[in-house]
Amino acid sequence: MTVHIEAEKGQIAKRVLMPGDPNRAEYIAKKYLENPVCVNKLRGELAFTGTYKGVPVTVFSSGMGIGSMGIYSYELFNDYDVDSIIRIGTAGSYTEDFKLYDILVADSSYSKTYFDEEAGREDIEIINSSGDLNGIIMNTAALKRINARLGRVHTTESFYTENKNYKKFTDMGCRAVEMETYALLYNAKKFLKKATAILTISDNLITHEEIDPKAREQKLDEMIFLALESIIKNQ
Ligand code: HPA
Repeated sequence: MTVHIEAEKGQIAKRVLMPGDPNRAEYIAKKYLENPVCVNKLRGELAFTGTYKGVPVTVFSSGMGIGSMGIYSYELFNDYDVDSIIRIGTAGSYTEDFKLYDILVADSSYSKTYFDEEAGREDIEIINSSGDLNGIIMNTAALKRINARLGRVHTTESFYTENKNYKKFTDMGCRAVEMETYALLYNAKKFLKKATAILTISDNLITHEEIDPKAREQKLDEMIFLALESIIKNQ
């Protein structure tokens, strides 16, 4: 048990999927895991451990933002000996190339956050995700005929932004924006663990199209299936 997680050590699997939303964690566990058991309810962040095709997997909600993901991924890697985490979430697209429901596999995250300097006294700005996990995900996507593309994601601290000029982020190679991946990759790098993110485009910041909140919760099955099929292949 840690300050933020009430699960016993053995109740968390080595392989973890992290949606942002606790309702989505429950939806995934009940729909996809065999014998899911709720192992965390502290602060309303839900975690379920069960098996997928016989392999132990935990689905743990990260909450929103770098701060929350920074806490949970730290404790999962450091205190629960988790080996690999795949974040599954939504992102806003900076380009017309990435349309609603398209899947972006984050090969890296760019962020101007101060999180890294406060956590470890270094300003990294760009952190790569696990090449091993990304390779497995892209192979699995090809095998299952799921359209997924690799690219850099921008991890922002602020959902509401006055400045609608995204050129400085697209110039850095960012295809879409979300709020958690940088903290996850920072902790994976710190603890020499594997992590990446699979993101479904939920809104387009150029065309202003978006999917509604209910669909955000439930119409993400292709990404969830891809994440589950991939994480069980990781050694
Ligand atoms: N901004 C930040 N995070 C997001 C967005 C967005 O537009 N869409 C989904 N996550």
